[in-house]
Amino acid sequence: MPETRMLYRRVDEPGLASIETYRRRGGYRSLTRTVKEIEPEELLTTLQDSGLRGRGGAGFSMGKKASFLPRGDTDKFLCCNADESEPGAFKDRELMQKNPHQLIEGVAIAAIAAGAGWAFIFIRGEYAEVADILEGAVAEAYGAGFLGADILGSGQRVELVVHRGAGAYICGEETALLDSLEGKRGNPRLKPPFPAIQGLYGGPTLINNVETLSNVPHIVANGADWFKGFGTEQSPGTKVVSVSGCVQRPGNYEIELGIPSRELIYGLAGGPPEGREVKAWFPGGSSAPVLTAAELDLPYSFEALADAGSMLGSGSIIVADDQVSIPALALRTARFYHHESCGKCTPCREGTNWTVKMLERVLSREATPMDLDIIASVQDNIIGHCLCVLGDSMAMPVSSMVKKFRPEFEEYIRRVASDSPGLGSDGAAGLHALTGTSSLAPASGPHA
Ligand SMILES: Cc1cc2nc3c(=O)[nH]c(=O)nc-3n(C[C@H](O)[C@H](O)[C@H](O)COP(=O)(O)O)c2cc1C
Ligand code: SF4
Repeated sequence: MPETRMLYRRVDEPGLASIETYRRRGGYRSLTRTVKEIEPEELLTTLQDSGLRGRGGAGFSMGKKASFLPRGDTDKFLCCNADESEPGAFKDRELMQKNPHQLIEGVAIAAIAAGAGWAFIFIRGEYAEVADILEGAVAEAYGAGFLGADILGSGQRVELVVHRGAGAYICGEETALLDSLEGKRGNPRLKPPFPAIQGLYGGPTLINNVETLSNVPHIVANGADWFKGFGTEQSPGTKVVSVSGCVQRPGNYEIELGIPSRELIYGLAGGPPEGREVKAWFPGGSSAPVLTAAELDLPYSFEALADAGSMLGSGSIIVADDQVSIPALALRTARFYHHESCGKCTPCREGTNWTVKMLERVLSREATPMDLDIIASVQDNIIGHCLCVLGDSMAMPVSSMVKKFRPEFEEYIRRVASDSPGLGSDGAAGLHALTGTSSLAPASGPHA
């Protein structure tokens, strides 16, 4: 099954990152129409009618969230979340690197829809090269009159700043992002109040992901019905999916939402290396509950993956083949979230710590089968009891791995109890095979 390219259309055209090429291809026409012909209320209606759902994790309606911001003269803000630190996710990087003006145009239109005069792109510090590209593109957009105090002489104001984060996964959580942007330590805030009411500097703030905002110029150009013509009723549009781990062609693929997941993993990404089989896969980054080979035909949509007990999340598939040790994978997952926990609330701070310790027991000959029940119960005590979703982001995949692959954990305990290789052959292979972190993922996928 081929890709369906909307955001990736012409992504490989040389020079697309420059404003001349972008404009030659129709770029900034949607923003021009927005400031000259469309009332903000009409814009909001179009975005809501399109059914565009957030591509950063929760899948909430973008237009509805924008409509929550109060009207009137209060200072309002837009923050584009370009933190992209979830293991397995590397789609926003390619979108910003190769087509920065598509995002800038989307930010400007969304800011106008929400009545926000100031916008920020919060980009993870490790994406230094991409931040340079974005800054260059922002300067071009100012020069051409698409940003600033009086966009194209319309009286509409959108000021845009690219802000580099300092490298913490938690700063991708929207309220920690706001604290970080304000110059504080990036810790999540208690919600409510939600950012749409009280966000950056206490003002109403719209926060959206890079891919979400990159969709906006296309919706304005072609209309809500056109957008709904792609995907499923509850998951309209296309999705850029990062596929990594045990596949022959890791990279970013743009597909219509709702195609069978097998098409993504086998058809586009080439499946596991010759002679190997898919054993497990995460459909939405490392924080999504794991699925098995028997679930490969699930449609890749928000609703189908949720019905199957997992989630689409940021749209990043990590594949583990039959050489991967699931207990080793569970430990690696838990260690990541333990390291990234901000420590503000007890279930996450203590729970991630205990989970790492207990999984280390599994892998170092000290665990008993009863310990698996304790690991499962620790996860139950984390899920739904934390200040932000980071705690759940460890507990959900770990819990699902113990549940779906329990015989492997038990066999591992039995085997290591008698004569164990510990974290030896299969464990190490599992760790090395899973290259699904954003830092290890290919720089620009198959479109390079
Ligand atoms: C620990 C944690 C990390 C997150 N990291 C990101 C991220 O890197 N990028 C992102 O867009 N959303 C991330 N999110 C989700 C954001 O909090 C927020 O829901 C999202 O930016 C909203 O944009 P959207 O509605 O366009 O998806 C993260 C959430 C949590 C709990
Ligand atoms: S869940 Fe974890 S990361 Fe989130 S606030 Fe609590 S301790 Fe911090």
